[in-house]
Amino acid sequence: MKYLNAAVEAVDKNAQSERRNKVALYWEGEDGTKKKITFLEMSLLSNKFASVLKSYGIQREDRVFFFLPRVPELFYGFLGALKTGAIAGTMFAAFGPQALQDRLDNSDAKILVTNQALKPRIDKVRSKLPNLKHVIVIESDAFQKRMADASNQFRIAQTQEEDPAFMLYTSGTTGKPKGVVHVHKAIYHQQKTAKLVLDLQEDDIYWCTADPGWVTGIAYEILGTLSLGASTVVHEGRFTPETWYRILQEYKVSVWYTAPTAIRMLAAAGTDLVKKYDLSSLRHMTSVGEPLNPEPIKWGKKAFGLYFYDTYWQTETGGMMIANRPGLKIKLGSMGKPLPGIEAAVADDKGNLLKVKQPGNLVFKKGWDSMMRKIWRRPKKYESYFKKGWYVTGDQAYKDEDGYYWFVGRADDVIKTSGERVGPFEVESALVDHPAVVEAGVIGKPDKLRGEIIKAFVTLKKDVKPTEKLKEELSEFVKHHLAGHAYPREIEFIERLPKTRSGKIMRRILKAKELGLDIGDTSTLEEY
Ligand code: WTA
Repeated sequence: MKYLNAAVEAVDKNAQSERRNKVALYWEGEDGTKKKITFLEMSLLSNKFASVLKSYGIQREDRVFFFLPRVPELFYGFLGALKTGAIAGTMFAAFGPQALQDRLDNSDAKILVTNQALKPRIDKVRSKLPNLKHVIVIESDAFQKRMADASNQFRIAQTQEEDPAFMLYTSGTTGKPKGVVHVHKAIYHQQKTAKLVLDLQEDDIYWCTADPGWVTGIAYEILGTLSLGASTVVHEGRFTPETWYRILQEYKVSVWYTAPTAIRMLAAAGTDLVKKYDLSSLRHMTSVGEPLNPEPIKWGKKAFGLYFYDTYWQTETGGMMIANRPGLKIKLGSMGKPLPGIEAAVADDKGNLLKVKQPGNLVFKKGWDSMMRKIWRRPKKYESYFKKGWYVTGDQAYKDEDGYYWFVGRADDVIKTSGERVGPFEVESALVDHPAVVEAGVIGKPDKLRGEIIKAFVTLKKDVKPTEKLKEELSEFVKHHLAGHAYPREIEFIERLPKTRSGKIMRRILKAKELGLDIGDTSTLEEY
């Protein structure tokens, strides 16, 4: 095996080259504060951060988690963690106590890095996390002092290509979120695809609107993209069409990576608004996370004079798998073609490969660099993702006669709302924690703007009144308990939930009823 440290590839190599004083991050805070951080500064700050982690006793492969908004500390902290040889994990700032507890508990995280505003959510569950040794608050005097005193030279861990580097929790159909583990070598695929698909060149100004709490932020806002030496814009604040156009204009963004829900929201704000800004620097626009339908692409062409290039991948694939890329004709509504080195196919449930135009499970030949290497503490679960040497995505698609792939839908109950992946089980569990609720069944309901919204069917305790106010209360409850983005926007009270004889809630039936479709095979259904 070969020595490789992804943080060195991403930043130190640039810091040791003629790019050293080039801006790596153009950071803009929620309150408008602006900072420029060069590659050299990123390298030294991540060294310091690594020294601080060492001073807290971090060891190789210990888990260090980050619960932060998009602040500079998240970026150099993440890189610093990789330099120590620890496994770095990220969590969305929208997470509530339950989501935090699930992740920190399953991963046995030793150190958590957070800020003052978010810390109270950790305090709520701290007593249930005996292995969490240190909570670092970035504004605290203790941390500031350690950072100030720390050496900016650091002996980087002798990590190998196949050593674990980072992990992300992601939702499936059943159970709690799973810890998807990636190795240092993932950066090879991330770098290659950032070049091919994002078309990143040395003098590009690149803006990825994703959050490093999501795999897109790690692969294409930190690792793959920084490694190519382009400058990256990071915007901590919230989305509004005006702010986003202002950022594109002000930083002269040339390459942009965003998501369909955002594009639809921009489209809803109208083409006239776009025309008020000088966006002449923009030369390439890309999208990920949900199906990119022809309408937003056509709108993009009208508004910016460019096409949005769709890219398909998952937390588990660690990098883009299928994409439209420069030089390849776009077929509107298709995800594009598999990237070089990636073998894709469509298979039936037994793993037999299907023919052109036959929809089925989208699968990839096992073994690319950024493929997940482990589901944390769940070896059997990990194995279950593979069939006959192929990784099974959980998505359905078909391939056309020209080799383009078309997305059909999820093969399971996983919900995609505004591009965020949400497991119905987590939302159901949060709902039943509320004293008024007996049971809950949760589905993704198609939505014009958000792709899907979360809809919950809830049965109430006998003496509880099914009021509108209670619906609001339940939504709020899930928001605070679980996550700001994973709450049901729609709630319906029902008498009883459709279940299998073995007692499993049949979300498929709830969904079919919601959509007014045939409810299909109900042979395993309990009397309903
Ligand atoms: C969906 C995101 C259609 C899909 C990087 C996948 C897409 C899940 C596309 C992964 C696309 C992602 N077209 N669907 N271009 N890209 N998806 O893990 O269902 O948050 O399995 O990673 O998003 O979501 P995740």
